Amino acid sequence: MLPKKVESILNEQVEKEGYAAQLYLAMASWTETKGYEGTSGWFYAQHKEETEHMLKIIKYVNERGGKAVVPSVKQPPTDFENIKQVFEASMEHEQMVTASINNIVSICLEEKDFTTHNWIQWFVDEQLEEESAVQKILDKLNLIGTGNLYMFDRDIMSLRSAGATEE
Ligand code: FEO
Repeated sequence: MLPKKVESILNEQVEKEGYAAQLYLAMASWTETKGYEGTSGWFYAQHKEETEHMLKIIKYVNERGGKAVVPSVKQPPTDFENIKQVFEASMEHEQMVTASINNIVSICLEEKDFTTHNWIQWFVDEQLEEESAVQKILDKLNLIGTGNLYMFDRDIMSLRSAGATEE
């Protein structure tokens, strides 16, 4: 049986992953309207991943005898300044999620819930991968500076798969 405190913190995480999915959807949509087709594809894929993260937690909570709570939809920003600011916002969000996952790890230990502690490690690894993927993109954007983003946008999906196979 899932300890109540763990169930509650996991339900908070369901909400955070759900919001991450919404945020990435907003970023996908904004970049699409600005003509950045590749970057938009990157964010649509990210939206799908975050939705999967949310589902993974919902299923785990229910499987362990808890009750998952489906959160309401929170409105993400509708406008961004530029491509770099979108990725900076994405990094900031991932860092917040990493802190939140780390907090779950510590609550699992406090509650001696070693099953969830073991299960949550997948998210610990995933956060490392996601922060590193966004950092690589920010590094590229810093290299480009105020230059033309045509090639960046064309190549961003290959950056994504390179990052995924490296781990
Ligand atoms: Fe599922 Fe990127 O947090």
